[in-house]
Amino acid sequence: MTTLEEHALAPADDPRRYRRSLGCFPTGITVMTAAHGGTRVGVTANSFASVSLEPPLVLWALRADSPSLPVFRHAGHFTVNVLAWHQEDLSRRFATPADDKFAGLNVTEGWGGAPLLDGCAARFETRLAHQFTSGDHVLLVGEVLRYNNFHREPLVFVRGGHRWLDQPGIG
Ligand SMILES: Cc1cc2nc3c(=O)[nH]c(=O)nc-3n(C[C@H](O)[C@H](O)[C@H](O)COP(=O)(O)O)c2cc1C
Repeated sequence: MTTLEEHALAPADDPRRYRRSLGCFPTGITVMTAAHGGTRVGVTANSFASVSLEPPLVLWALRADSPSLPVFRHAGHFTVNVLAWHQEDLSRRFATPADDKFAGLNVTEGWGGAPLLDGCAARFETRLAHQFTSGDHVLLVGEVLRYNNFHREPLVFVRGGHRWLDQPGIG
């Protein structure tokens, strides 16, 4: 009998295979932004989730050794820029370490000075409500203060690649 199912593994058995398996779960892609003391940071993140509606809380996880973490911690606000289908270049830009990831980009300032990216599918401006270290990441929970839905189709990330939905009129 042929089957595509495999026997269960422990994550430590084969870390690359474990990461590949996590990649079976499709997500949207966000660029999280914040500013503090004249420094702007932006990080591509697909760990975004809505936690609570009342109050409106969202979370994401940032690598604990990220050079951007001190700014996210001290800024007190962060903005979730949900990327639209045509923004793969921004996904790659903000996933690549650089002194100024915003160089040459047209951005405006949002709540707490957090950079707002143009052309997104949606945007959520938040106040940092909680932070917890969990393993090698820090969970940042934000209370949504205001948001925009620009009704553009989202960029999707699955199995390590950027994709887009083919149904028109999402959202
Ligand atoms: C699609 C995608 C999703 C990502 N999601 C996360 C994430 O949720 N958390 C995280 O810490 N890094 C994530 N990364 C990696 C960061 O974007 C990357 O490490 C970036 O350089 C971090 O910014 P920094 O160099 O300022 O720390 C993701 C990368 C990609 C391409």
